[in-house]
Amino acid sequence: MSNSLFNKHFLFFGGKGGVGKTTMAAATAIRAADLGHNTLLVSTDPAHSVSDSLDQKIGGDDYIKVNDVENLWAIELNTDQAMSTYSEMISQQDPTGAFNELLGDGDPSSLSPPGTDETVAFIQLLEFIQNPEYDIVVFDTAPTGHTLKLLQLPELTQSWLFRLIKMRRRLGGLMGGFKSLFGGGSELDEQDAFDKLEELRDQVEIARTHLSNNEETEFVAVTIPTIMAIWETERLIRALFEVAFPITRIYINQLQPENPDCSYCKNRYTEQLKNIEKIKDLYDEFDLHEIPSFEYEIRGVAHLRKLANILYGKK
Ligand SMILES: Nc1ncnc2c1ncn2[C@@H]1O[C@H](COP(=O)(O)OP(=O)(O)OP(=O)(O)O)[C@@H](O)[C@H]1O
Ligand SMILES: [Mg+2]
Repeated sequence: MSNSLFNKHFLFFGGKGGVGKTTMAAATAIRAADLGHNTLLVSTDPAHSVSDSLDQKIGGDDYIKVNDVENLWAIELNTDQAMSTYSEMISQQDPTGAFNELLGDGDPSSLSPPGTDETVAFIQLLEFIQNPEYDIVVFDTAPTGHTLKLLQLPELTQSWLFRLIKMRRRLGGLMGGFKSLFGGGSELDEQDAFDKLEELRDQVEIARTHLSNNEETEFVAVTIPTIMAIWETERLIRALFEVAFPITRIYINQLQPENPDCSYCKNRYTEQLKNIEKIKDLYDEFDLHEIPSFEYEIRGVAHLRKLANILYGKK
């Protein structure tokens, strides 16, 4: 039943800071690869830790083959580098700042592109969505706030692009005039930039369709049995529903064993049982998985494979 995850194309792991997103994403990517799927593990968290989890240096420049796992590659998206490409594209659209000025409808942010880091990550995400080389792409995302912005972006980016395109249509001729006045590019560049903009709008539309299709995409919420993590999970799940992002499964991580000989452990254990009951009440229609806290820090391919055995059964 739980193996149906591996029929999907895009798997996202998200949740509160420190709950085990990277660990679950890495273990899942390893299992996907061990099942014979060509798999890519992508980190969209600017504070990358896929390298630490796999115990192997992964960079942002290229896909790196993961040692000791056939069929698995990884990349940590380098948002700084992509940011300059993105800024260049934006300034190409409005080289003199004329749009922003002309549009001045009282709202100075009306034409500014939505979120920076997230937009860059999203534009890169588009590339993975269109890349047929991998059967499964596993995304290790940043803690909740960042990730929600990223997932809301298709909508934001689209409405932003629609406004920009409409504006350009209306002001096309005028824009050329502005450009020559300020010594901007030729008519040809102008058309080229406009085509790129329309192409990006179409790509965003395609991404929206893929990401909301529950046969292709699944978001796994990772949490721990504490009240604060439960609240954050609730915010995450509500927001995912709002953007129609498929989510059915919650990983409850870092369960402590019962230890009646230690009063600290006993108290934490009682608290944990209560919180697990709460999660079961809140999410009775979800597929819930309980994962024990290991005796050691889960790091490196061998440990991650042990975790994969717990998550998906022995191979
Ligand atoms: N079930 C577990 N047993 C033992 N150690 C675990 C378990 N799950 C996660 N860890 C360890 O907890 C730490 C945090 O895990 P991880 O980095 O996966 O969390 P994260 O949610 O990705 O954090 P961040 O929000 O900082 O990205 C790591 O050192 C990891 O090895
Ligand atoms: Mg992480």
